[in-house]
Amino acid sequence: MDSYYVLGNPIAHSKSPLIHARFAELTGQAMHYGRLLTPLDGFAAMLAHLLQSGARGCNVTVPFKLEAFRAASTQTDRAQLAEAANTLTLAGSAVHADNTDGVGLVNDIQNHAGVSLVGRDVLLIGAGGAAAGVLASLLAATPRRLVLVNRTRAKAEALVDRHKAHVSMQDFLKKTELATQDLPSLKGDFDVVINASSSSLTGTGVPVDRSVLKPGALAYDMMYGPAAAGFMTWARENGATPRDGLGMLVEQAAEAFAWWRGVRPTASQVLKVLQEIRALPA
Ligand code: ATR
Repeated sequence: MDSYYVLGNPIAHSKSPLIHARFAELTGQAMHYGRLLTPLDGFAAMLAHLLQSGARGCNVTVPFKLEAFRAASTQTDRAQLAEAANTLTLAGSAVHADNTDGVGLVNDIQNHAGVSLVGRDVLLIGAGGAAAGVLASLLAATPRRLVLVNRTRAKAEALVDRHKAHVSMQDFLKKTELATQDLPSLKGDFDVVINASSSSLTGTGVPVDRSVLKPGALAYDMMYGPAAAGFMTWARENGATPRDGLGMLVEQAAEAFAWWRGVRPTASQVLKVLQEIRALPA
């Protein structure tokens, strides 16, 4: 039976085995999906072991996404733009890297939250790994304006410059104005505000003023559960529609599953898995 794994440290909390097992069941695919606690200095050895054992692929989570990207023999455009990989396909001795986080986010916003990004004003907060993983897919959804803000503006500028220079982004950039702004003097109101900063985890509160929210805006935190709670409360208190990253988690898995297996769980099946996961204890 074809085998897949998720590699991370820590990994016990990962819902990926459950999600992929349900996708396999719903699409009639015979496959095994397990989790592997990978020592912090042991990613290369674990990958070598997977290649040797004939595993077909793996997902990669914190803190190995950058190492996974670098270890690959080929990388999709969106993995190159993120400079990180969350999905590897293994074939013989070859390692192919992809990053499905951005598509996961966009699919959740458009297909489950029911908010089209086309022609909208979007604010992305953060310029670390999480933001880098989704910027290309947000651009590909052709909003009118995509503004990136970060505590350290230079990092936001570097990320924007990388996307502006990449050949695969040129058509999208004709439709979307991509820019950075200073966080303290940020101006404008947005239809969709996405928190890709780790400010919730550091307990410092939401780093933008409520004036960035258009009435009824979608306020999306890419984390889910308790880690997203502060941002969710801020959104609710300021008239926005709050949403955490659970749907993104399930949708990025669906994209990885489709890449590996050539069959995609349908939207209703994805939604069903989302609801099942939501019903589980955090
Ligand atoms: P991740 O992989 O989760 O993106 P990361 O690469 O360490 O983690 O990036 C963390 C992001 O959260 C960065 O954009 C960081 O801002 P800096 O680039 O200025 O460090 C942002 N961040 C972390 N704590 C923050 C805070 N208290 N206020 C605002 N932004 C914060």
